[in-house]
Amino acid sequence: MKVRKAVIPAAGLGTRFLPATKAMPKEMVPIVDKPTIQFIVEEAKKSGIEDILIVTGKNKRSIEDHFDANPELEQDLEEKGKTDLLHLTQSITNLGVNLYYTRQPHPAGLGDAILRARSFVGDEPFAVMLGDDLMDDKVPLTKQLIDRYDKTHASTIAVMPVPHEEVSKYGVIDPDSEIEPGLINVKAFVEKPDVDKAPSDYAIIGRYLLTPEIFDILAHQKPGRGGEIQLTDAIDTMNKTQRVFAHVFNGERHDVGNKEGYLETSIEYGLSHPQIKDDLREYIINMAQKLQKEDKNSKKK
Ligand code: G1P
Repeated sequence: MKVRKAVIPAAGLGTRFLPATKAMPKEMVPIVDKPTIQFIVEEAKKSGIEDILIVTGKNKRSIEDHFDANPELEQDLEEKGKTDLLHLTQSITNLGVNLYYTRQPHPAGLGDAILRARSFVGDEPFAVMLGDDLMDDKVPLTKQLIDRYDKTHASTIAVMPVPHEEVSKYGVIDPDSEIEPGLINVKAFVEKPDVDKAPSDYAIIGRYLLTPEIFDILAHQKPGRGGEIQLTDAIDTMNKTQRVFAHVFNGERHDVGNKEGYLETSIEYGLSHPQIKDDLREYIINMAQKLQKEDKNSKKK
């Protein structure tokens, strides 16, 4: 069956970005000038996804507004002859995918958020795309997972090696054999293991291709790490009755869910943004020289 649907959980409280996220959804925090959730929706579109369900929560209305038309703004831009900005604004409403929204009433974990998508997904395979990671590669990562699914008809989870001391921040796989380059049979999926107990350094990185059987499992899933319903635990259970593969991502991953990753990504994306790249480049070079000088002086002392 063709993969047509994706679910984007966007109900999290965004505590890592306080105070910015006190009244604003973390998904609306921009990288240069584009909210992070728009990058995710664009990746879905480029991957051939037709229907997207965004699972939101309280204080998340601006996500819906962002993808909706804004007639007042459009009229104003038209009257002032700002055609480029008008087209840019309209293009967000005409991304060519259908967006649906539902709310998760209580933040009860990623697994619980995905369970909200049950009737939207029905009996089809579907993608899950988390908003904290932006993925760059020639073929979008979600499309890579769909291509794997088209051959295996099995659930497939994107993974990537991370520094060993960081594994406790992620779902981690216990890898078995590599059945073809970049496709791994998995013994177990473990949510946020302690560093000394982690079965590998392969972390789950926020893109999943799942078969609909996950919903029956999620409906009975007991709370795991942090007292929340964990998607990783449900995937581990599913792996005992049907194959779940791990797909190794070789592209570039930007973790915009933490302050440092967010700033680094903003700089990198800024350096390829047509309007600001030249000035930003000059600024960074000057700043680097100034910092080097400061470092040298402080060593002399
Ligand atoms: C979630 C998942 C985790 C995964 C991570 C990727 O954790 O539960 O398995 O590795 O996303 O970003 P969170 O970062 O929401 O705590």
